[in-house]
Amino acid sequence: MQEPLLRFDDVSKVYRNGVQGLSHVSFSVEAGEFVAVIGPSGAGKSTLLRSINRLQDITSGRVLIRGEDISRESGRKLRAMRAGIGMIFQNYNLVYRLSVMQNVLHGRLGYMSSWRGMLGLYSEEDREKAAALLEEIQMGDFLNARAADLSGGQKQRVGIARAFMQEPELLLCDEPIASLDPSSAKIIMDMLSAMTKRRHMACLVNLHQIDAAKTYAGRIIGLRRGTVVFDGPPEALTDAAVETIYGVPASELAMKECVS
Ligand SMILES: Nc1ncnc2c1ncn2[C@@H]1O[C@H](COP(=O)(O)OP(=O)(O)OP(=O)(O)O)[C@@H](O)[C@H]1O
Ligand SMILES: [Mg+2]
Repeated sequence: MQEPLLRFDDVSKVYRNGVQGLSHVSFSVEAGEFVAVIGPSGAGKSTLLRSINRLQDITSGRVLIRGEDISRESGRKLRAMRAGIGMIFQNYNLVYRLSVMQNVLHGRLGYMSSWRGMLGLYSEEDREKAAALLEEIQMGDFLNARAADLSGGQKQRVGIARAFMQEPELLLCDEPIASLDPSSAKIIMDMLSAMTKRRHMACLVNLHQIDAAKTYAGRIIGLRRGTVVFDGPPEALTDAAVETIYGVPASELAMKECVS
């Protein structure tokens, strides 16, 4: 039997201050799945994502990528495993003084020796690929623009192109639309959905908009206080399930979302 692309096996995370970020989390994700992770603030969504690419270490359990425990790897092996995992952030994490093209090329750094990366010695093939990706996200006219001069939606598109430069098997998105207006948010979610589908890539997206989770995800994982309390298709996310995840009735939550 083939190992799943990603498997959480009884993962717990206790922060140094004693806060339980994750508690006995187990689930698997297969190639091509688009999974939304939802839950109230502090539920552990970011902790979960950051445990996968080791932005954070877990306290116990295993995080397996194709059967290999990334939580115990280090050095060259960890670097190679990380290269296969892309990440997109709420605040874009671009280098603002650099051009759009240079930011996208940064997606290749995980595959280059550090001195080549430092000198910006990208291959012609990488440059062509970056240009093609910028066309795909409709930013072909912005190659030489400074990242600082872009709108929020455009910055996030550059973040997407940079992540796809890695040709990852797995894409992690931590609140990719939380800082965007509704129309930019739709463009970003449409792009993430179409681009991951086209490449049969697995995608894990933390979202606080339940509507977006239902619209785009094939599967929703609900976290509450570090524990998985829901895992199923969007159709199964009933009002009762929403209340289990958020601890307040779905109707109240909808009101809160409108106000915030
Ligand atoms: N570096 C840290 N040190 C101590 N506690 C932390 C740290 N990072 C997160 N926590 C705590 O761990 C819990 C889970 O936090 P996490 O950021 O994963 O939640 P989240 O679901 O992403 O929340 P949000 O929706 O606000 O982004 C929270 O109680 C949080 O305060
Ligand atoms: Mg978070």
